[in-house]
Amino acid sequence: MNSLFAPHTLGSLTLGNRIVMAPMTRSRRPDHIPDADTADYYRQRAGAGLIITEGVFVSPEAQGYSHVPGLWTDEQAAGWAGVTEAVHGAGGRVFAQLWHVGRVSHSSLQPGGAAPVGPSALRAQAQVWIGDAGFADADTPRPLRTDEIPRLIADFADAAARAARSGFDGVELHGAHGFLFEQFLNAHVNDRTDRYGGSVENRARFLLETLDALADRIGSHRVGVRLSPFTLANDLPVDDSTEDLYAYLAQQLTGRALAYVHLSDLHLSGGSDISEDFLKTFRHNYDGTVLLAGGLDRARAEYLLNAGLVDFAVFGRPFIANPDLVERLRDDLPLATPDPATFYGGGTEGYTDYPRR
Ligand SMILES: Cc1cc2nc3c(=O)[nH]c(=O)nc-3n(C[C@H](O)[C@H](O)[C@H](O)COP(=O)(O)O)c2cc1C
Repeated sequence: MNSLFAPHTLGSLTLGNRIVMAPMTRSRRPDHIPDADTADYYRQRAGAGLIITEGVFVSPEAQGYSHVPGLWTDEQAAGWAGVTEAVHGAGGRVFAQLWHVGRVSHSSLQPGGAAPVGPSALRAQAQVWIGDAGFADADTPRPLRTDEIPRLIADFADAAARAARSGFDGVELHGAHGFLFEQFLNAHVNDRTDRYGGSVENRARFLLETLDALADRIGSHRVGVRLSPFTLANDLPVDDSTEDLYAYLAQQLTGRALAYVHLSDLHLSGGSDISEDFLKTFRHNYDGTVLLAGGLDRARAEYLLNAGLVDFAVFGRPFIANPDLVERLRDDLPLATPDPATFYGGGTEGYTDYPRR
């Protein structure tokens, strides 16, 4: 019987348990620099086997929401060093989630007020938080030129190098939820005719090249990737090639010796977006470690683990209100309910003031 609460290896690390804290944007850093409160928040949750930080923008152009921390300057990296030190001091491990929103952005968040970038000039029906001015509709993106792709890949590799210097145990590439990489993966949002569009192989190329660049820079065992098959977040249309795409991705990711593939199920379709059959097939086609997030509780996590469908169980919202979530799950204690009104923005309220039991 596998236990959620026993140590387990991930890449070259041994984690204290198989419970992972999901990446969650908290929008509390107007200057993009993590501070003492950020460090406090993550330190309180270091009982997780692994923490994956909130999405961290890799460049000014990567931004699509206000008040989100970055990893494109040394000041930001210094802020993160305070976070990694706090987590390690409390016995935890932490990966930084590297994020570029692509077309899910607004010109007011872009350098020089430019249009956001994406695979194609197709606008997302989505809203982004632009700070004091509130929410705004995403702008029509400027399609990236083929010769710009290496620059974007370099932005990710540079952010990964900064993350490693800041003491992170690794990085997770945000390839999910309708942001930049999933815009390239989706057949209907990507209408490119170059080697990054068209066939499944071409649509997957940008993601795979970026993962290779991250692995070259910091080591493959320190690189994970988050993917959200079927989740259709941020106005992604249904794509009939999803099964083929994921069969190809599983095959291509095999042998790359990544830390993990992290599948995210946002339950946007009302039920599970990711079926057990899909998990079985993906597992069969991919030789590495699999994490799953979305609507898990202890019973479901143990079932998935014992059925051999996942290696680690990822919890999001429960970690917001339960800094000691692992102990509470282990001891079958009641869980506190998080307040959605304080998910994004504000100060320490709803952030670092949820008590341990
Ligand atoms: C406040 C909040 C912020 C989130 N921010 C991110 C993010 O930055 N990156 C990401 O990949 N997912 C993000 N998510 C999704 C979570 O990682 C997770 O997949 C989702 O909450 C489902 O898991 P749960 O049912 O355990 O909460 C966010 C979710 C919440 C509630």
